[in-house]
Amino acid sequence: MKILIVGGGGREHALAWKLAQSERVDKLFCAPGNAGIGLLAECVPLKAEDVDGICAFAEKEKIDLTVIGPEIPLSLGIVDALNDRGLRAFGPNRECARLEASKSFTKAFLARHGIPTAGYREFTDIHELKQSIGLFGYPMVIKADGLAAGKGVVIAEDETSAVAAIDQIMGDRIFGTAGDRIVVEEFLAGIEASVLCFVDGKTIVPMESAQDYKRIFDGDKGPNTGGMGAYSPSLIFHDELENQIRERILEPTIKGFQEDGLDFKGVLFIGLMITAEGPKVIEFNNRFGDPETQAVLPRMKTDLLEIMEAVLEERLSEQTIEWSEKKVVCVGMASGGYPGDYEKGKPISGLDAVDSDIIVFHSGTKFMNNESVSSLDDAVGNKSMETTENRGTCAIVTDGGRVLGVTALGYTHEEAREKAYRNVARISFEGAQYRKDIGQLNDQK
Ligand code: AMP
Ligand code: GLY
Repeated sequence: MKILIVGGGGREHALAWKLAQSERVDKLFCAPGNAGIGLLAECVPLKAEDVDGICAFAEKEKIDLTVIGPEIPLSLGIVDALNDRGLRAFGPNRECARLEASKSFTKAFLARHGIPTAGYREFTDIHELKQSIGLFGYPMVIKADGLAAGKGVVIAEDETSAVAAIDQIMGDRIFGTAGDRIVVEEFLAGIEASVLCFVDGKTIVPMESAQDYKRIFDGDKGPNTGGMGAYSPSLIFHDELENQIRERILEPTIKGFQEDGLDFKGVLFIGLMITAEGPKVIEFNNRFGDPETQAVLPRMKTDLLEIMEAVLEERLSEQTIEWSEKKVVCVGMASGGYPGDYEKGKPISGLDAVDSDIIVFHSGTKFMNNESVSSLDDAVGNKSMETTENRGTCAIVTDGGRVLGVTALGYTHEEAREKAYRNVARISFEGAQYRKDIGQLNDQK
């Protein structure tokens, strides 16, 4: 089979790594991919958001299955567009993609179906919002309704910072139209966990739990990032909590999808806060999480292609999914300055010095040689990006804020952590930064 993966980050590298292990996969493509993905798949110089370009490529190459990584092409309706051309695609359709593309849509869904979540109100008028400032007390959780690359949530400690955030989001529109509507939420205290679930429209099957580390600094300090690392399984999961999640969240969610006529097929990512009152939904995403996927897929024993086909053919209830008992820790290495401004193009050394059982998932990397570049921006319109033939001699350089996810398996969390950090120390690039506490439980929130 020919598979095309859409996206070019660590999540897509993990998807490519796992799908490449399927005996039924003959050829893997990735649009646009990155240097690490380029070692497993043929990278195609198309942006993930280029729905028309990707559809045309899939049609020309007779791709058997297109797997969508990021949320933007999903919200643009890439799955509907591929299906219209008679092509199979893994991911929810445009209507279901609203579960991530609009926070108010999701909050209304959760409220309608009695699924535990933070209390909320939505606003489209800045004056009305300012008059209601602090309506749930402080900290005040302020969210741009639309997609904002994971940056649209502000947790304001006091009125001054709440007003500043509202002015930026709704007044200055720093997230564009995503901030035309703001959702204000009650603050939930607790420990976060992520559960990625396969959903085939009728059945919801959770994968193993994971935890993401969103803040840049140790101890969950500093600004939010796209995710500085992850581990699986979550240290706070136990049977009782898993039962609560199944009964209070997963079952009403799939029932709600059916009642509302939402034919969700793909991966539903449920961001949870484990509070003193039990698990509550913070957010739904309509895709695999990044970096959770890098921590979860190495533990999956079953062929991912088989599961994806079961989802598309509504056979998930008959599909077994087996998991390794091992623990995984994935430590993110980021560019200096991230999540603020950072430089790209820093040569990465030590990638060949890691132990043989370590998986280094690439996020923002590219091959660098004199003639060609393969970064997302440069690749479009520049068809001379690296091919399998010429890249052997090319150095790999940084090409984004998040650069690598150094991933280790161990019989205990501690062993996986120790192995991951031992190998992180062998990799270097100018300005590299990483958290030292990935895989440890932080409970200072
Ligand atoms: P979201 O994009 O909705 O996942 O929010 C980003 C991050 O903000 C989450 O991962 C949480 O750390 C935090 N967050 C969002 N909503 C709440 C809430 N109601 N209470 C506490 N923290 C929240
Ligand atoms: N790990 C958070 C996300 O994928 O949105």
